Amino acid sequence: MENRAITPSLSQDQTQAPSDEMQEALRIWGGRPLSGNVRISGAKNSALALMAGALLCPEPCRLRNVPSLVDINRMGQVLQSLGVKLQQQEDALDIDASTLTTSKAPYELVSQLRASFFVIGSLVARLGSARVPLPGGCAIGARPVDLHVRGLQALGAEVRIEHGIVYADVKGRGGKLKGAKIYLDYPSVGATETLMMAATLAEGETIIENAAQEPEVEDLANFCRAMGAKIRGAGTNTVIIVGVPRLHTTDYSIIPDRIETGTFLVAGAITRSEISLSPVIPEHLTPAIAKLREMGCQVIFEAPNRLRIVPGELRATDIETLPYPGFPTDMQAQFMALLSVSTGNSVVTETVFENRMGHVPELVRMGADIRIKGENAIIRGVPLLSGAPVSGTDLRASAALVVAGLAADGETLMKGLRHLDRGYDNFESKLRKLGAKLERVTL
Ligand code: UD1
Repeated sequence: MENRAITPSLSQDQTQAPSDEMQEALRIWGGRPLSGNVRISGAKNSALALMAGALLCPEPCRLRNVPSLVDINRMGQVLQSLGVKLQQQEDALDIDASTLTTSKAPYELVSQLRASFFVIGSLVARLGSARVPLPGGCAIGARPVDLHVRGLQALGAEVRIEHGIVYADVKGRGGKLKGAKIYLDYPSVGATETLMMAATLAEGETIIENAAQEPEVEDLANFCRAMGAKIRGAGTNTVIIVGVPRLHTTDYSIIPDRIETGTFLVAGAITRSEISLSPVIPEHLTPAIAKLREMGCQVIFEAPNRLRIVPGELRATDIETLPYPGFPTDMQAQFMALLSVSTGNSVVTETVFENRMGHVPELVRMGADIRIKGENAIIRGVPLLSGAPVSGTDLRASAALVVAGLAADGETLMKGLRHLDRGYDNFESKLRKLGAKLERVTL
């Protein structure tokens, strides 16, 4: 087994998804049933946060179950630009931040990946200073960082934004942040993670109220605790962090990706196929499982870490996206595809992001009957979708179009693979193993 440095796999070219440059598309032949087991990869959003968290540690750390994704490569590049050494061996990633030399993250990298902004918390905690470009907007909404900024200010950092760069500095106290009580106006995942990381090395106690409760926040807390941080309450709406002077090495395995799991559950339901998924943490999928059951599918807990979907006649239902433990916005598009072919009328309400309906016109192209009214999509179920040329507008929209294509009559040609490659580890080969017929083509 080769132990290769991550550097060669992180060239600028490869962090641009290859599909982006070569105008690749996915050709999907619909109507084939799926069967078998699918192996779920480590959670993308956990892996990104934990990579930022590893900056807190002056000793090398190992992350396991790291998914193979363009976004992970991009985050790796951000860490390398800060002087960190990375070494990758299959799904294990060694991160040595003992060599963290600079607090300046480069614009070209941060602008490509919002999660890379989250390094600001670790940088300011460890070095007393950070310069991180604003991540900018993205296809699904404006996505500001005001909650991150206000929280860092509460922790004693002086923060100013000039020419698109966020400068955070701790003056005095030997560059150490100071614990504080922070109330988040909204339970933002990223802000909770940034502030939790920042507070880990601060003087005294920090309490984050109205914190995000997502499993990825809890995973980050567990990783930091494995490095010696004192954190309790992660996974609830109040996180309490007592600062420690220094963290130490650890070897930590990332949780399974609940959104990938949910996407495969939808793939099973929409193609009326029984498939099994493992490893999974079923509690992380409570809202998706509840909706699938309401729609007429059975979801069986085959083993503590294995789910099986047994599809039924699909019935309409209403869905509203909310912070965890509500229904995840990252599953909204995939469920919209499923509701398009369910009997009856459904309403899907997107409350988390203001512009996350890019998949609607594409699903309509495939024969779905969907109208958008403000933050609601009104869906009248049709018996069958028909294959069509479509474009994925963001990561989860692309996944929704792929699952729609699997169930559609005829051929679907989906463009926009640069989004899909950001977030699904070996999606096509996993689907192919289940019996789907699809191929990547160059246009
Ligand atoms: C994370 C996930 C993303 C998921 C989202 C919501 C990662 C890498 N990404 O994104 O897949 O869709 O959670 O579950 O973990 N907001 C502000 N000000 C801020 C921060 C956020 O107004 O300072 C708003 C955003 O614009 C958005 C809402 O809060 O409308 C939720 O965003 P947030 O929870 O922060 O999402 P991310 O952490 O960016």
